[in-house]
This record gives sequence, structure tokens and C-alpha cells, in this order.
Amino acid sequence: MEFEPTFSPEKKRNFENNEEWAVKELREGGEKSKELKALIDKKWKRHEKYLVGEGESASEVEDDELTLKELKEEMEKEKEEVYNRYLKDLELSEEDLEGKSILDLGCGEMAPFIQKLMEKDLEVELKGVDIDLDEDHLPEELEGVVEYANFEKEIPGDDYDYIFAYGSIFAYEWRDPESAILNAVEKLNTGGEIKIMPISEPVEGDIKPMEKQWNKMKSILEKAAEENNLTLEIKGVDFMISGNDEKNKDIWIRNLATLKK
Ligand SMILES: C[S@@+](CC[C@H](N)C(=O)[O-])C[C@H]1O[C@@H](n2cnc3c(N)ncnc32)[C@H](O)[C@@H]1O
Repeated sequence: MEFEPTFSPEKKRNFENNEEWAVKELREGGEKSKELKALIDKKWKRHEKYLVGEGESASEVEDDELTLKELKEEMEKEKEEVYNRYLKDLELSEEDLEGKSILDLGCGEMAPFIQKLMEKDLEVELKGVDIDLDEDHLPEELEGVVEYANFEKEIPGDDYDYIFAYGSIFAYEWRDPESAILNAVEKLNTGGEIKIMPISEPVEGDIKPMEKQWNKMKSILEKAAEENNLTLEIKGVDFMISGNDEKNKDIWIRNLATLKK
């Protein structure tokens, strides 16, 4: 069904309160666009009812507007959460980032860390790459900053002071973490740091696949450090517990690996 609302003036006003953001999100196919489309469908169905005289109360329309507002607030909250998570887990302060050139490997389709960082009053040069993004439908502010790339094959740009990989480099069998790390090392400035998080280290329980990945990741990092004259620090950030009872629990540490040139 084509979306061509013909709202009554009162309803149109209500919709317009959020229209600018909602339309932008829909055009750009942002992460909330699916939910928005569902909302619009719902709104449209109500409106059709309204047109044929089955009516709907103004307060119901307001409920929908509130939901749109809530969605926007949710996005803002997510950006804030991701930003704080990066700083906390990668052990960084805003002062550390000031004046730096920063690359976010696997930044996510909406690059929430980069978006939030752009809102800050900091002098930073930013680049984000992800394999799962559509360059033709990026929000305007991310154009030229975020781009499509498979960092296991090639990393765009160079001379980065910080290269972050949060939740994006793993030693699964079908992945190539060694190439990802060596590609990043190549693009790192002297004095720069690559920060990879999390690197899971099993402590207790029967977590064989994790053990295999931990050993593989550790040896890749140690080899990369040795062959490229880097210092390597692997540091526990927090630990996780799963399982249903005391006897069968699994415990593992979430580590942060820092390679410094
Ligand atoms: C779990 S998400 C983490 C997103 C973000 N870094 C965060 O912490 O919120 C991992 C991201 O890495 C991206 N990614 C995984 N492998 C990649 C690769 N080889 N090249 C580029 N991006 C990759 C995925 O598409 C996904 O967006």
C-alpha cells in the first residue's frame, strides 16, 4: 500500500511533530525504519477507519506520536550506552581521544560510537568501517566517515592513533582474525594503540570451543606483537558466569587486548 496520509489538520499537526525525524529515518533505511514502517501501517489502518467514520480518539493518535518519540529517545539512549561502554571497557577517557585519529573496525550499521563522538566538543578524525552497511543509505552526517569494508581483506585510510575492534574480531573457524590484526597493525601510527575487546578466556567449566578460540587469539596477538615490535597487554575487564547450578557453571573472563606501536 502506498503511504499517502491525508490527515485531518489536527492529526497532521500531531504527526508533523515527529515527521522530520521519522521521514529521514525511513528514507535512509536507518535501524529503526522497520519498526517505523510497522507503526505507519498501524497508523494508516487507524486512519482508514477514521476515513470511513469508524473513528479513533485523538488520544490514541497521541499514543502513536509518543511511541515515535520513544523510538527516537531509544536511539539516543543506545548511542549514549555504546559510547560509554567503549570508553569504559577500552579504558579510555575523552582526553585520551582529543586530537587523535580514530578507526572503529566493525562500527555497526549506524556507527553509534562514532555518531556520539561527533556530537562531542573534541578535535578528532574519525573513520568507521563495517561489512554490513549500505553506503547509499547512510545518514548524512556519516557520509565520508563510515564506509563499507571487510577489514579482514583491507582497511581504508591510514595513520590511525587508535584502532578499536569492539565485538568484531573473533577466532571463529570461518573468520580470519590474523589478517584483521595485521591489517590494523599496518595502519597504526607509531605511539598508536589497537584495542580489541572482548577476548574471552575460560576459567572454569567445560567450554572447549572457547578454549580453542582463546588459545588461537592469544597466539595470533603474541606473534603480531613479536614480529612487529609492539607491546601487548591482555587485561581482564570483567567476568561472566553462565549455567544453572553451582556444579555446572561456566566462568570466563572478558579481556581487553591492547597492542601498542
Ligand atoms: C557485534 S557488532 C559490534 C558493533 C559495535 N562495534 C559495538 O560494539 O556496538 C560487530 C560488527 O562487526 C562487523 N564485522 C564483523 N566482521 C567484519 C569484517 N570482516 N569487516 C567489517 N566489519 C565486520 C559486523 O557487521 C557488526 O556490525
